[in-house]
Amino acid sequence: MKITIFGTGYVGLVTGACLADVGHDVICMDVDHGKIEKLRNGHIPIYEPGLEPIVKHNVEAGRLSFTTDPEEAVRHGLIQFIAVGTPPDEDGSADLQYVTAVARTIGQCMDDYRVVVDKSTVPVGTGDKVSAAVRSELDKRGLELEFDVVSNPEFLKEGAAISDFMKPDRIVVGTDSERARELLRETYYPFNRNHDRMIFMDIRSAELTKYAANAMLATKISFMNEIANLSERLGADIEAVRRGIGSDPRIGYHFIYPGCGYGGSCFPKDVQALARTARSCDYDAKLLNAVEDVNLAQKHVLFDKISHYFQGNLEGKVIALWGLAFKPNTDDMREASSRTLMESLWKAGAKVQAFDPEAMAETQRIYGDQEGLALSGTKEQALKGADVLVICTEWKEFRSPDFASIAAVLSEPVVFDGRNLYEPEMLDRHGLIYYAIGRGHNQ
Ligand code: UGA
Repeated sequence: MKITIFGTGYVGLVTGACLADVGHDVICMDVDHGKIEKLRNGHIPIYEPGLEPIVKHNVEAGRLSFTTDPEEAVRHGLIQFIAVGTPPDEDGSADLQYVTAVARTIGQCMDDYRVVVDKSTVPVGTGDKVSAAVRSELDKRGLELEFDVVSNPEFLKEGAAISDFMKPDRIVVGTDSERARELLRETYYPFNRNHDRMIFMDIRSAELTKYAANAMLATKISFMNEIANLSERLGADIEAVRRGIGSDPRIGYHFIYPGCGYGGSCFPKDVQALARTARSCDYDAKLLNAVEDVNLAQKHVLFDKISHYFQGNLEGKVIALWGLAFKPNTDDMREASSRTLMESLWKAGAKVQAFDPEAMAETQRIYGDQEGLALSGTKEQALKGADVLVICTEWKEFRSPDFASIAAVLSEPVVFDGRNLYEPEMLDRHGLIYYAIGRGHNQ
Protein backbone atom coordinates (compact mmCIF):
# COMPACT_ATOMS: atom_id res chain seq x y z
CA MET A 1 0.00 0.00 0.00
CA LYS A 2 1.28 3.49 -0.80
CA ILE A 3 1.18 5.67 2.28
CA THR A 4 2.00 9.31 3.02
CA ILE A 5 2.60 10.66 6.49
CA PHE A 6 2.44 14.40 7.16
CA GLY A 7 4.54 15.35 10.16
CA THR A 8 7.80 13.71 11.23
CA GLY A 9 7.35 14.30 14.94
CA TYR A 10 6.93 11.53 17.39
CA VAL A 11 3.74 9.96 16.09
CA GLY A 12 4.45 10.54 12.40
CA LEU A 13 7.95 9.12 12.40
CA VAL A 14 7.04 6.03 14.42
CA THR A 15 3.96 5.41 12.25
CA GLY A 16 5.94 5.85 9.03
CA ALA A 17 8.82 3.65 10.15
CA CYS A 18 6.58 0.85 11.44
CA LEU A 19 4.29 0.84 8.39
CA ALA A 20 7.36 0.68 6.12
CA ASP A 21 8.80 -2.12 8.24
CA VAL A 22 5.85 -4.41 7.43
CA GLY A 23 6.24 -3.75 3.71
CA HIS A 24 4.23 -0.63 2.90
CA ASP A 25 5.70 2.02 0.61
CA VAL A 26 5.90 5.13 2.81
CA ILE A 27 6.81 8.78 2.26
CA CYS A 28 7.10 11.09 5.27
CA MET A 29 6.57 14.75 4.57
CA ASP A 30 7.55 17.70 6.73
CA VAL A 31 7.75 21.43 6.07
CA ASP A 32 10.93 21.58 8.16
CA HIS A 33 13.71 21.25 5.56
CA GLY A 34 16.44 20.87 8.18
CA LYS A 35 14.66 17.98 9.81
CA ILE A 36 14.04 16.17 6.53
CA GLU A 37 17.67 16.61 5.51
CA LYS A 38 18.79 15.10 8.82
CA LEU A 39 16.36 12.20 8.50
CA ARG A 40 17.63 11.48 4.98
CA ASN A 41 21.10 11.23 6.46
CA GLY A 42 19.91 8.79 9.09
CA HIS A 43 19.77 11.29 11.96
CA ILE A 44 16.70 10.74 14.17
CA PRO A 45 15.61 13.94 15.90
CA ILE A 46 14.04 12.21 18.93
CA TYR A 47 15.27 9.62 21.40
CA GLU A 48 13.09 6.54 21.10
CA PRO A 49 14.49 3.06 21.73
CA GLY A 50 14.44 0.94 18.57
CA LEU A 51 13.39 3.70 16.19
CA GLU A 52 16.74 4.48 14.57
CA PRO A 53 17.50 0.96 13.28
CA ILE A 54 13.96 0.64 11.84
CA VAL A 55 14.25 3.98 10.05
CA LYS A 56 17.71 3.16 8.67
CA HIS A 57 16.76 -0.35 7.60
CA ASN A 58 13.64 0.77 5.74
CA VAL A 59 15.32 3.73 4.10
CA GLU A 60 18.00 1.35 2.80
CA ALA A 61 15.33 -1.10 1.65
CA GLY A 62 13.69 1.71 -0.33
CA ARG A 63 10.38 1.48 1.52
CA LEU A 64 10.75 4.71 3.49
CA SER A 65 11.66 8.12 2.12
CA PHE A 66 11.37 11.73 3.17
CA THR A 67 10.24 14.82 1.33
CA THR A 68 9.41 18.47 1.81
CA ASP A 69 7.48 18.59 -1.45
CA PRO A 70 3.72 18.60 -0.76
CA GLU A 71 2.80 17.63 -4.30
CA GLU A 72 5.03 14.59 -4.24
CA ALA A 73 3.60 13.66 -0.84
CA VAL A 74 -0.04 13.90 -1.90
CA ARG A 75 0.63 12.14 -5.22
CA HIS A 76 2.29 9.22 -3.44
CA GLY A 77 -0.13 7.85 -0.90
CA LEU A 78 -3.59 6.42 -1.37
CA ILE A 79 -3.70 6.78 2.39
CA GLN A 80 -2.64 10.20 3.73
CA PHE A 81 -1.96 10.25 7.46
CA ILE A 82 -2.05 13.59 9.25
CA ALA A 83 0.35 13.36 12.19
CA VAL A 84 1.26 17.00 12.78
CA GLY A 85 1.21 18.74 16.15
CA THR A 86 -1.84 20.14 17.92
CA PRO A 87 -0.20 22.35 20.55
CA PRO A 88 -2.45 23.96 23.15
CA ASP A 89 -3.28 27.62 22.45
CA GLU A 90 -3.55 30.20 25.27
CA ASP A 91 -6.92 28.97 26.50
CA GLY A 92 -5.90 25.28 26.61
CA SER A 93 -7.79 24.18 23.51
CA ALA A 94 -5.93 22.32 20.77
CA ASP A 95 -4.60 24.53 18.00
CA LEU A 96 -5.72 22.96 14.72
CA GLN A 97 -3.92 25.22 12.28
CA TYR A 98 -1.34 22.60 11.28
CA VAL A 99 -3.96 19.89 10.83
CA THR A 100 -6.17 22.05 8.62
CA ALA A 101 -3.14 23.30 6.67
CA VAL A 102 -2.33 19.69 5.76
CA ALA A 103 -5.97 19.07 4.81
CA ARG A 104 -5.82 22.09 2.49
CA THR A 105 -2.57 20.86 0.96
CA ILE A 106 -4.20 17.51 0.23
CA GLY A 107 -7.18 19.29 -1.38
CA GLN A 108 -4.82 21.46 -3.45
CA CYS A 109 -2.69 18.59 -4.77
CA MET A 110 -4.83 15.44 -5.01
CA ASP A 111 -5.82 14.21 -8.43
CA ASP A 112 -7.53 10.96 -7.48
CA TYR A 113 -9.37 9.31 -4.55
CA ARG A 114 -7.59 9.70 -1.21
CA VAL A 115 -8.22 8.54 2.35
CA VAL A 116 -7.32 11.32 4.77
CA VAL A 117 -6.53 9.85 8.18
CA ASP A 118 -6.29 11.98 11.31
CA LYS A 119 -3.68 10.47 13.60
CA SER A 120 -2.99 13.61 15.59
CA THR A 121 -4.96 14.02 18.80
CA VAL A 122 -7.74 16.33 17.69
CA PRO A 123 -10.90 17.62 19.35
CA VAL A 124 -14.22 16.05 18.53
CA GLY A 125 -15.53 17.56 15.31
CA THR A 126 -12.12 17.95 13.63
CA GLY A 127 -13.01 15.26 11.09
CA ASP A 128 -15.71 17.58 9.77
CA LYS A 129 -13.25 20.48 9.59
CA VAL A 130 -10.68 18.39 7.73
CA SER A 131 -13.37 17.26 5.32
CA ALA A 132 -14.51 20.86 4.75
CA ALA A 133 -10.92 22.05 4.19
CA VAL A 134 -10.21 19.36 1.56
CA ARG A 135 -13.59 19.98 -0.10
CA SER A 136 -13.14 23.76 -0.29
CA GLU A 137 -9.73 23.39 -1.99
CA LEU A 138 -11.19 20.94 -4.48
CA ASP A 139 -14.05 23.37 -5.14
CA LYS A 140 -11.53 26.13 -5.85
CA ARG A 141 -9.97 23.84 -8.44
CA GLY A 142 -13.43 22.99 -9.83
CA LEU A 143 -12.84 19.28 -9.11
CA GLU A 144 -15.30 16.76 -7.76
CA LEU A 145 -12.86 14.13 -6.63
CA GLU A 146 -13.90 11.62 -3.99
CA PHE A 147 -12.13 11.32 -0.66
CA ASP A 148 -12.86 9.90 2.77
CA VAL A 149 -11.88 11.18 6.19
CA VAL A 150 -10.94 8.77 8.96
CA SER A 151 -10.09 9.28 12.63
CA ASN A 152 -7.40 6.81 13.69
CA PRO A 153 -6.00 8.01 17.02
CA GLU A 154 -2.62 6.84 18.22
CA PHE A 155 -2.14 5.25 21.63
CA LEU A 156 1.61 4.84 21.75
CA LYS A 157 3.70 5.66 24.79
CA GLU A 158 7.00 7.46 24.48
CA GLY A 159 9.83 5.07 25.27
CA ALA A 160 7.76 2.05 24.19
CA ALA A 161 6.43 3.47 20.93
CA ILE A 162 7.75 0.82 18.56
CA SER A 163 6.36 -2.13 20.50
CA ASP A 164 3.09 -0.27 21.15
CA PHE A 165 2.74 0.28 17.40
CA MET A 166 3.81 -3.21 16.40
CA LYS A 167 1.70 -4.96 19.05
CA PRO A 168 -1.27 -2.64 19.62
CA ASP A 169 -4.00 -3.32 22.21
CA ARG A 170 -6.46 -1.86 19.76
CA ILE A 171 -6.60 -0.03 16.47
CA VAL A 172 -9.43 2.46 16.60
CA VAL A 173 -10.83 3.52 13.24
CA GLY A 174 -13.63 6.07 12.99
CA THR A 175 -15.22 6.37 9.58
CA ASP A 176 -18.57 6.33 7.84
CA SER A 177 -17.12 4.96 4.61
CA GLU A 178 -17.02 1.27 3.75
CA ARG A 179 -14.24 1.88 1.23
CA ALA A 180 -12.01 3.65 3.77
CA ARG A 181 -12.74 0.96 6.30
CA GLU A 182 -11.47 -1.80 3.99
CA LEU A 183 -8.37 0.21 3.06
CA LEU A 184 -7.53 0.78 6.72
CA ARG A 185 -8.09 -2.90 7.42
CA GLU A 186 -5.59 -3.72 4.68
CA THR A 187 -3.09 -1.15 5.97
CA TYR A 188 -3.17 -2.58 9.47
CA TYR A 189 -3.48 -6.24 8.48
CA PRO A 190 0.15 -7.08 9.47
CA PHE A 191 -0.54 -5.87 13.05
CA ASN A 192 -3.88 -7.58 13.27
CA ARG A 193 -3.34 -11.14 12.14
CA ASN A 194 -3.69 -13.29 15.21
CA HIS A 195 -6.81 -11.75 16.60
CA ASP A 196 -8.88 -8.82 15.48
CA ARG A 197 -7.82 -5.69 17.28
CA MET A 198 -9.61 -3.29 14.99
CA ILE A 199 -12.48 -1.37 16.52
CA PHE A 200 -14.60 0.48 13.99
CA MET A 201 -16.89 3.34 14.97
CA ASP A 202 -18.07 6.74 13.81
CA ILE A 203 -15.56 9.59 13.49
CA ARG A 204 -16.64 11.59 16.54
CA SER A 205 -16.54 8.57 18.83
CA ALA A 206 -13.02 7.74 17.64
CA GLU A 207 -11.90 11.31 18.32
CA LEU A 208 -13.39 11.20 21.79
CA THR A 209 -11.93 7.74 22.48
CA LYS A 210 -8.42 9.20 22.37
CA TYR A 211 -9.19 11.93 24.91
CA ALA A 212 -11.19 9.57 27.10
CA ALA A 213 -8.28 7.10 27.24
CA ASN A 214 -5.74 9.73 28.27
CA ALA A 215 -8.14 11.43 30.68
CA MET A 216 -8.95 8.11 32.35
CA LEU A 217 -5.24 7.31 32.80
CA ALA A 218 -4.53 10.80 34.13
CA THR A 219 -7.48 10.39 36.51
CA LYS A 220 -6.01 7.17 37.89
CA ILE A 221 -2.73 8.97 38.60
CA SER A 222 -4.29 12.05 40.18
CA PHE A 223 -6.55 9.82 42.24
CA MET A 224 -3.55 7.89 43.56
CA ASN A 225 -1.65 11.09 44.25
CA GLU A 226 -4.57 12.35 46.27
CA ILE A 227 -4.71 9.12 48.27
CA ALA A 228 -0.91 9.37 48.70
CA ASN A 229 -1.25 12.86 50.16
CA LEU A 230 -3.90 11.52 52.51
CA SER A 231 -1.66 8.56 53.42
CA GLU A 232 1.05 10.95 54.58
CA ARG A 233 -1.35 12.77 56.81
CA LEU A 234 -2.92 9.59 58.17
CA GLY A 235 0.32 7.67 58.78
CA ALA A 236 -0.49 5.07 56.12
CA ASP A 237 1.78 3.76 53.38
CA ILE A 238 0.54 4.38 49.82
CA GLU A 239 2.70 1.54 48.50
CA ALA A 240 0.79 -0.94 50.65
CA VAL A 241 -2.49 0.70 49.66
CA ARG A 242 -1.46 0.51 45.98
CA ARG A 243 -0.81 -3.23 46.22
CA GLY A 244 -4.02 -3.64 48.15
CA ILE A 245 -6.25 -1.98 45.58
CA GLY A 246 -4.37 -3.10 42.46
CA SER A 247 -5.06 -6.74 43.32
CA ASP A 248 -8.70 -6.12 42.41
CA PRO A 249 -8.73 -6.80 38.65
CA ARG A 250 -11.40 -4.15 38.21
CA ILE A 251 -8.81 -1.60 39.39
CA GLY A 252 -5.61 -3.30 38.21
CA TYR A 253 -1.96 -2.56 38.93
CA HIS A 254 -1.34 -0.40 35.87
CA PHE A 255 -1.10 3.35 36.17
CA ILE A 256 -1.71 3.60 39.88
CA TYR A 257 1.84 4.64 40.75
CA PRO A 258 1.85 7.73 42.91
CA GLY A 259 4.55 10.29 42.24
CA CYS A 260 5.51 13.91 41.80
CA GLY A 261 2.86 14.45 39.12
CA TYR A 262 2.34 13.38 35.53
CA GLY A 263 4.00 15.25 32.69
CA GLY A 264 4.69 14.82 29.00
CA SER A 265 3.14 16.21 25.89
CA CYS A 266 -0.12 14.31 26.22
CA PHE A 267 -1.81 14.03 29.61
CA PRO A 268 -1.59 17.68 30.70
CA LYS A 269 -2.55 18.96 27.24
CA ASP A 270 -5.31 16.46 26.59
CA VAL A 271 -6.99 16.74 29.99
CA GLN A 272 -7.07 20.53 29.60
CA ALA A 273 -8.30 20.34 26.02
CA LEU A 274 -11.10 17.96 26.95
CA ALA A 275 -12.17 20.16 29.86
CA ARG A 276 -12.14 23.07 27.46
CA THR A 277 -14.23 21.13 24.90
CA ALA A 278 -16.68 20.37 27.70
CA ARG A 279 -16.98 24.08 28.50
CA SER A 280 -17.58 24.88 24.86
CA CYS A 281 -20.69 22.72 24.94
CA ASP A 282 -21.82 24.16 28.28
CA TYR A 283 -20.78 21.22 30.39
CA ASP A 284 -18.74 21.76 33.52
CA ALA A 285 -16.40 18.74 33.61
CA LYS A 286 -15.73 18.84 37.36
CA LEU A 287 -13.75 15.63 37.46
CA LEU A 288 -11.42 16.64 34.61
CA ASN A 289 -10.76 20.00 36.21
CA ALA A 290 -9.96 18.28 39.50
CA VAL A 291 -7.58 15.84 37.79
CA GLU A 292 -5.66 18.81 36.41
CA ASP A 293 -5.70 20.73 39.71
CA VAL A 294 -4.45 17.74 41.70
CA ASN A 295 -1.62 17.30 39.21
CA LEU A 296 -0.55 20.95 39.31
CA ALA A 297 -0.44 20.76 43.11
CA GLN A 298 1.41 17.43 43.02
CA LYS A 299 4.23 18.95 41.01
CA HIS A 300 4.94 21.16 44.04
CA VAL A 301 4.99 18.39 46.63
CA LEU A 302 8.74 17.69 46.41
CA PHE A 303 9.60 21.36 46.74
CA ASP A 304 7.33 21.68 49.78
CA LYS A 305 9.03 18.71 51.44
CA ILE A 306 12.51 20.09 50.73
CA SER A 307 11.54 23.55 51.89
CA HIS A 308 9.97 22.11 55.04
CA TYR A 309 13.14 20.14 55.76
CA PHE A 310 15.26 23.28 55.50
CA GLN A 311 12.68 25.26 57.50
CA GLY A 312 11.92 27.50 54.55
CA ASN A 313 15.51 28.63 54.07
CA LEU A 314 16.89 27.30 50.80
CA GLU A 315 19.24 30.18 50.08
CA GLY A 316 22.57 28.77 48.88
CA LYS A 317 21.55 25.12 49.37
CA VAL A 318 22.84 22.72 46.74
CA ILE A 319 20.33 20.15 45.57
CA ALA A 320 21.46 17.07 43.63
CA LEU A 321 18.70 16.16 41.17
CA TRP A 322 18.47 12.75 39.50
CA GLY A 323 16.04 12.56 36.59
CA LEU A 324 14.90 15.41 34.38
CA ALA A 325 12.82 13.72 31.67
CA PHE A 326 9.07 13.48 32.32
CA LYS A 327 9.49 9.71 32.52
CA PRO A 328 12.25 7.14 31.86
CA ASN A 329 13.41 6.09 28.37
CA THR A 330 12.86 9.46 26.80
CA ASP A 331 14.71 12.77 26.62
CA ASP A 332 11.40 14.62 26.56
CA MET A 333 11.05 17.29 29.26
CA ARG A 334 7.71 18.76 28.27
CA GLU A 335 5.66 19.47 31.41
CA ALA A 336 8.17 17.45 33.46
CA SER A 337 7.89 17.68 37.26
CA SER A 338 11.64 18.29 37.38
CA ARG A 339 11.06 21.67 35.75
CA THR A 340 8.50 22.84 38.29
CA LEU A 341 10.86 21.71 41.02
CA MET A 342 14.00 23.35 39.60
CA GLU A 343 12.19 26.61 38.91
CA SER A 344 10.86 26.71 42.50
CA LEU A 345 14.31 25.90 43.87
CA TRP A 346 15.97 28.66 41.89
CA LYS A 347 13.34 31.14 43.00
CA ALA A 348 14.09 30.19 46.59
CA GLY A 349 17.84 30.77 46.05
CA ALA A 350 18.96 27.14 45.86
CA LYS A 351 21.37 25.63 43.34
CA VAL A 352 20.67 22.47 41.34
CA GLN A 353 23.22 19.87 40.20
CA ALA A 354 21.28 17.80 37.74
CA PHE A 355 21.80 14.48 35.97
CA ASP A 356 19.63 12.53 33.55
CA PRO A 357 20.75 9.57 31.41
CA GLU A 358 19.22 11.06 28.23
CA ALA A 359 17.87 14.56 28.82
CA MET A 360 21.07 16.56 29.40
CA ALA A 361 21.10 18.13 25.94
CA GLU A 362 17.41 18.96 26.27
CA THR A 363 18.02 20.56 29.68
CA GLN A 364 20.84 22.59 28.19
CA ARG A 365 18.57 23.65 25.33
CA ILE A 366 15.76 24.75 27.66
CA TYR A 367 17.71 26.29 30.54
CA GLY A 368 20.98 27.20 28.81
CA ASP A 369 23.08 29.27 31.17
CA GLN A 370 20.46 29.47 33.91
CA GLU A 371 22.13 30.68 37.04
CA GLY A 372 21.99 28.04 39.75
CA LEU A 373 22.06 25.08 37.36
CA ALA A 374 25.05 22.78 36.98
CA LEU A 375 24.78 19.86 34.58
CA SER A 376 26.54 16.75 35.85
CA GLY A 377 27.99 14.03 33.65
CA THR A 378 27.05 11.19 35.99
CA LYS A 379 24.69 10.63 38.89
CA GLU A 380 27.69 10.42 41.22
CA GLN A 381 29.03 13.75 40.02
CA ALA A 382 25.68 15.38 40.76
CA LEU A 383 26.11 14.39 44.42
CA LYS A 384 29.51 16.06 44.90
CA GLY A 385 29.20 19.10 47.11
CA ALA A 386 25.41 18.71 47.33
CA ASP A 387 23.40 19.01 50.51
CA VAL A 388 20.56 16.60 49.70
CA LEU A 389 19.42 14.34 46.84
CA VAL A 390 16.09 14.56 44.99
CA ILE A 391 14.76 12.06 42.44
CA CYS A 392 12.20 13.07 39.82
CA THR A 393 12.35 10.27 37.23
CA GLU A 394 12.51 6.52 37.84
CA TRP A 395 15.34 5.62 35.45
CA LYS A 396 16.58 2.02 35.92
CA GLU A 397 20.08 3.18 36.84
CA PHE A 398 18.71 4.97 39.91
CA ARG A 399 17.13 1.84 41.34
CA SER A 400 20.14 0.38 43.12
CA PRO A 401 22.59 3.15 43.84
CA ASP A 402 25.43 2.92 46.32
CA PHE A 403 23.53 4.16 49.36
CA ALA A 404 26.60 4.17 51.59
CA SER A 405 28.43 6.59 49.33
CA ILE A 406 25.32 8.76 48.95
CA ALA A 407 25.15 9.01 52.73
CA ALA A 408 28.87 9.79 52.88
CA VAL A 409 28.98 12.44 50.19
CA LEU A 410 25.86 14.50 50.99
CA SER A 411 26.25 17.17 53.62
CA GLU A 412 22.81 16.18 54.96
CA PRO A 413 21.99 12.50 54.51
CA VAL A 414 18.54 13.06 53.03
CA VAL A 415 16.85 11.63 49.94
CA PHE A 416 13.61 13.09 48.57
CA ASP A 417 12.15 10.53 46.21
CA GLY A 418 9.37 11.65 43.86
CA ARG A 419 8.91 8.15 42.41
CA ASN A 420 8.97 5.84 45.45
CA LEU A 421 11.94 3.84 44.19
CA TYR A 422 13.21 2.46 47.47
CA GLU A 423 12.19 0.65 50.61
CA PRO A 424 12.44 3.08 53.54
CA GLU A 425 14.12 0.43 55.74
CA MET A 426 16.92 0.04 53.20
CA LEU A 427 17.80 3.72 53.33
CA ASP A 428 17.40 3.76 57.06
CA ARG A 429 20.03 1.02 57.36
CA HIS A 430 22.47 3.27 55.50
CA GLY A 431 21.73 6.19 57.75
CA LEU A 432 19.75 8.06 55.10
CA ILE A 433 16.63 10.02 55.94
CA TYR A 434 14.02 9.18 53.30
CA TYR A 435 11.10 11.29 52.16
CA ALA A 436 8.98 9.64 49.50
CA ILE A 437 5.44 10.21 48.25
CA GLY A 438 2.60 9.04 50.48
CA ARG A 439 4.68 6.91 52.80
CA GLY A 440 3.25 8.23 56.01
CA HIS A 441 5.43 6.55 58.58
CA ASN A 442 8.53 8.60 57.78
CA GLN A 443 7.15 11.90 56.55
C1 UGA B 1 0.45 8.77 27.14
C2 UGA B 1 -0.43 7.50 27.11
O1 UGA B 1 0.02 6.55 28.08
C3 UGA B 1 -0.42 6.86 25.73
O2 UGA B 1 -1.34 5.75 25.71
C4 UGA B 1 -0.86 7.91 24.71
O3 UGA B 1 -0.84 7.39 23.39
C5 UGA B 1 0.08 9.10 24.78
O4 UGA B 1 0.04 9.65 26.10
C6 UGA B 1 -0.37 10.11 23.77
O5 UGA B 1 -1.48 10.64 23.89
O6 UGA B 1 0.32 10.29 22.75
P1 UGA B 1 3.10 9.20 27.37
O7 UGA B 1 2.74 10.66 27.49
O8 UGA B 1 4.19 8.79 26.46
O9 UGA B 1 1.80 8.36 26.91
O10 UGA B 1 3.52 8.75 28.81
P2 UGA B 1 2.98 7.79 29.98
O11 UGA B 1 3.81 6.57 30.03
O12 UGA B 1 1.52 7.60 29.87
O13 UGA B 1 3.33 8.68 31.27
C7 UGA B 1 2.75 9.97 31.45
C8 UGA B 1 3.11 10.53 32.81
O14 UGA B 1 2.38 9.87 33.84
C9 UGA B 1 4.57 10.42 33.21
O15 UGA B 1 5.00 11.67 33.75
C10 UGA B 1 4.60 9.33 34.26
O16 UGA B 1 5.63 9.50 35.18
C11 UGA B 1 3.24 9.53 34.91
N1 UGA B 1 2.72 8.30 35.56
C12 UGA B 1 2.40 7.21 34.84
C13 UGA B 1 2.53 8.30 36.93
O17 UGA B 1 2.81 9.31 37.64
N2 UGA B 1 2.01 7.18 37.53
C14 UGA B 1 1.68 6.07 36.83
O18 UGA B 1 1.19 5.09 37.44
C15 UGA B 1 1.89 6.08 35.45
